[in-house]
Order: sequence, then C-alpha cells, then structure tokens
Amino acid sequence: MYIANEKRYETMKYKRCGKSGILLPRISLGLWQNFGGSNVFENSREMVLGAFDRGITHFDLANNYGPPAGSAEETFGQILAKDLKPYRDELIISSKAGYYMWPGPYGEWGSKKNLVASLDQSLKRMGLEYVDIFYHHRPDPDTPLEETMDALAHIVRQGKALYVGISNYKAEDAKKAIHILKDMGVHCLIHQPRYSMFDRWVEDGLLDVLDEEGVGAIAFSPLAQGLLTNKYFNGIPSDSRAGGPSVFLRPESVTDEKIEKAKKLNEIAKNRGQSLAQLALSWVLRRKEITSVIIGASRLSQIDDNIGALNNLEFTSDELNAIEEILK
Ligand SMILES: NC(=O)c1ccc[n+]([C@@H]2O[C@H](COP(=O)([O-])OP(=O)(O)OC[C@H]3O[C@@H](n4cnc5c(N)ncnc54)[C@H](OP(=O)(O)O)[C@@H]3O)[C@@H](O)[C@H]2O)c1
Repeated sequence: MYIANEKRYETMKYKRCGKSGILLPRISLGLWQNFGGSNVFENSREMVLGAFDRGITHFDLANNYGPPAGSAEETFGQILAKDLKPYRDELIISSKAGYYMWPGPYGEWGSKKNLVASLDQSLKRMGLEYVDIFYHHRPDPDTPLEETMDALAHIVRQGKALYVGISNYKAEDAKKAIHILKDMGVHCLIHQPRYSMFDRWVEDGLLDVLDEEGVGAIAFSPLAQGLLTNKYFNGIPSDSRAGGPSVFLRPESVTDEKIEKAKKLNEIAKNRGQSLAQLALSWVLRRKEITSVIIGASRLSQIDDNIGALNNLEFTSDELNAIEEILK
C-alpha cells in the first residue's frame, strides 16, 4: 500500500494563484505525454507518486491526453483508485476540453454541449466526482464567447469543477472572457499559456491583463518540450521526445540555432550552479505573474532535477542581460 512521504511539504514552495484562496506548487506536473495507454503504467505511477511525495500537489490533465486520447485520465484514475484516494483533498486536479475528442459536430471547440459532455467523460475516466480546475483548452473563433463562459459557469454551479480557467487565449480575448465570467458571478482562477525562453508571446500584454484582473498564470512547456535541457547537445537520443513517436516535437524542430542558444544558456546555468533545465524553469518563475510552471517528464529523475530549480530563483541584472543577449 502506498503511504505518502511524511516530509512532502517541507521543501516545495507554493504561490497564491492570482487573487484567490488557492496556493499552487511552483512546479506542477502535466500528463500530456508519457502517461497514456501506450506508456508503461509503472513508470507513470512512479512519476505521479514521486511528484506527490515531493510536494507537487497539482496534476494537469485534459480530455485528449494520451495517446490514445483519454488514456492519460484513465491512467491517473487508476493511480487515484490504487494509491491517491486517501489524499484527494491534498490534490488540485485539472482537466480541459476544446481540442478534438470525438467525431461529429460536438466533439471539439467551445460549445456548451462539448464542454459539459466532455467533462462528464473526464470525470468518469478518472473516477472523480469533481475536478478542481476545468479549462476551456483553446479559443473557438466561431462559438460566441458568452456561450463558452456560460458553460464554465454552469459547470461550477453543478459542482463538477471548483474553479475554471482558460488556456491559449490571447490578451484581448482573455480579458473579455474574464469579464463575462465575472458578470456571471464566477471568478476565472487561472490562464494556462505556453511560456519559455524560446516562446515569449505572453510578455506582450497577456501577463499584464492577468495581473490587473487577479488571475493566476501557469506556464506550459517551460522547457520547450526538452529543447531547454542538455539532452539534444550531441544529437537526438532515441529515448527522447524528438526521437520517439510523438508528433508534437519532430526531429526537424531540434535546429542548430536552438541547440547553439541552449549551449550558451547552459554556461550561465553552470555559473549559477544549475542545470539548464533548472535555469529555464527559474527564468519563467522569475515573473511575479507566474504562479507555477507545468513540467512534463518521462522519468522521475527529471522531476527531481526540475524541482532543484527552486533552490535558486533570484537573478542578478547581469545574468538577465546575458540571457537576453543569447535569446535575441
Ligand atoms: N494547455 C495546452 O494547450 C497545453 C499544451 C501542451 C502542454 N500542456 C501542459 O503542460 C505540460 C508540460 O508540457 P511539456 O511536456 O511540453 O513540458 P516541458 O517541461 O517543456 O517538456 C517536458 C519534456 O522535457 C524533457 N525533460 C523534462 N525535464 C527534463 C530534465 N530535467 N532533463 C532533461 N529532459 C527533461 C522530457 O522529455 P523526454 O521525453 O525527451 O525525456 C519531458 O517529457 C503538459 O503535460 C500539459 O499538462 C498544456
């Protein structure tokens, strides 16, 4: 029987998610890849329980995570049933809907029909009565924002999610969505955008909006799917995301230019006593608007490495300037 580490809350750092009652761990774990039905269950379980033992209380899922789609929620449901059920009230579990999930006109995007049905399916797969956070996964250019936000508000009133959030919304649409929800009496807890040293679009307005509105920000792919680690310095290993079957990081994305930059950043990391992964995570966490980073992992040792980022979150202006020079 699994018994959680007694010292799990001794080293992890937590931060308040915007203006809300929720504290999130600075490092959260995402189950997008490596937790599906095509992965080794025992490895997925070791990572989830290992993360929890280290104070990671937040696990990020979505209807379509796998492969196959849905299977990451099933894996997580099995770990919950077997190991984590007694700890349910220590966990923040999120799911999302918006990407393609089932055939026909209701299986994706932002209709109320899609969101409500999809969350019911997610709850069933995970064996849960409610999720802590439910997101609209991507903006829908055709459905009125009012309908999508009405679906989120409805889900909160049903008690099937305690909090709601949005993901991949640009600054202007995020602001509109937050206000529509507010008018319905529902606070938008959190926004989940991609943010890393290699992808800085959020700095151009989105983080300001979230700060003004008291909405938390949780950054996904903070390691640019592994490009901001030392793993590709000598080619593409066969046991890496770019070397495997994932369609989301193809070998052609591992460019000489990116590797060159990563190697230079690695020198700064060394001077700070960090690995490159740790530098990349501390750099995202340096922004006051960022509540947490959602890392992915293929083995527990990566989670350990990444948590080490929390030992050095301060940057000198010289370090920040040197990083800017490299990223130019
Ligand atoms: N809302 C959205 O639209 C959206 C989109 C994408 C992701 N997300 C969320 O964000 C989470 C994280 O995304 P991500 O997996 O792209 O994040 P990431 O942290 O940028 O990349 C994770 C990958 O980097 C490698 N890695 C991690 N730590 C490492 C270390 N210390 N040393 C060497 N390699 C390391 C591993 O790749 P290898 O497999 O090569 O070992 C790992 O699978 C997802 O699980 C999901 O929850 C959300």
